[in-house]
Amino acid sequence: MTKAVIAATGLFTPEQSISNEELVAAYNAYAERFNAAHAAEIAEGDVAELTPSSVEFIEKASGIKSRFVLDKTGILDPERMVPHLPARSNDELSILAEMAVKAAEQAIKAWGKPVSEIGAVLCAASNMQRPYPAMAIEVQQALGIEGFAFDMNVACSSATFGIKTAADFIASGSVKAVLMVNPEICSAHLNFKDRDSHFIFGDVATAVIVEAEDQAAPGGWEVLGTRLKTVMSNNIRNNFGFLNKAALPTDAVEPLQSNGLTDKMFVQQGRKVFKDVVPMVADMIVDHAAELDIDPTGLKRMWLHQANINMNQFIGRKVLGREPEPHENVIILDEYANTSSAGSIIAFHLHQDGFEPGETGLICSFGAGYSAGTVFVSKRA
Ligand code: COA
Repeated sequence: MTKAVIAATGLFTPEQSISNEELVAAYNAYAERFNAAHAAEIAEGDVAELTPSSVEFIEKASGIKSRFVLDKTGILDPERMVPHLPARSNDELSILAEMAVKAAEQAIKAWGKPVSEIGAVLCAASNMQRPYPAMAIEVQQALGIEGFAFDMNVACSSATFGIKTAADFIASGSVKAVLMVNPEICSAHLNFKDRDSHFIFGDVATAVIVEAEDQAAPGGWEVLGTRLKTVMSNNIRNNFGFLNKAALPTDAVEPLQSNGLTDKMFVQQGRKVFKDVVPMVADMIVDHAAELDIDPTGLKRMWLHQANINMNQFIGRKVLGREPEPHENVIILDEYANTSSAGSIIAFHLHQDGFEPGETGLICSFGAGYSAGTVFVSKRA
């Protein structure tokens, strides 16, 4: 059975970023206008008054200070609260594929081999912009890759599910190298008029090249083991899909927020998610480490899914059995917010320094489904 290696990674970060202060100012302006426009119904008790959002709450509850987005002006316009992401013709590269290609080009450059050596492309992400043709096939074509490609969606866990899929392809001999991309346009599925969740997500794309060990150049990361888990829950849900299309005006060219379908967008019971997912993931990491004969307290670094600072600190403490140092439990959500499947890969991409060959780390994701994935890696000489 051929072992898999994470040979290279890439990251595309949008140019525009929104601070909590800017986001809260836009929400509060929207709420003020809403309350003024519905003053009579609010006084009668027929409409609930909107309460202001707060920078302090957001930072304390989530650890998020800012988020990158593809379009800032549409989101921050209190009359709109939706990014401007105009539809593209079928002949243009789709916006999701475009982001993925940018991240992939960086990974391919770092890898240093021709794309003819890649046998498969996986687009593993939370929110695909259409059912088919697969975005992965579009990325494949844009990069001139042969072989096969497909999309897979396991919400925030998509990247670890993608790495395991790639590692299994390599183990079975199906292909020798896989490109996995995680383009996430979370801002198109987030209801910026919802105070409970308007601060949560950001946009980004990541890319990972997984390759057979017997042909990999020195360096990179040996995949020591992968494990996946899913447990049905409605506590994080997104109901958008083709059955809702009938509700869209025929000329709809904007993200779905502008079509009044906010009840079909991301929604969560954050407290319940926290309570259910944290113990599930901590136990999974410890169990999986035991199976691989790895002492979890000896992990050099964890690159966890980036949803909430308190969740990550809690899991970090449970796994290491003590308070992790910042370099042991990487946090990037302060700058990037929750970027769904891409979060753990951004952390991994940006913070790989200081490892000696043989030292171990953990890429771990968790999210809607519920779903969780663990990928233990070891630095190669
Ligand atoms: N500004 C100010 N106050 C706010 C607010 C905002 N934007 N949003 C909510 N609040 C208020 C609530 O109204 C509530 O007030 P009350 O106690 O008077 O009713 C209070 O803050 C606490 O709200 P709650 O939703 O319980 O906050 P929380 O501490 O659970 O934090 C999350 C919210 C979403 C940050 C947190 O639950 C979380 O991150 N959970 C994990 C979610 C997750 O990982 N999801 C994965 C997605 S892939």
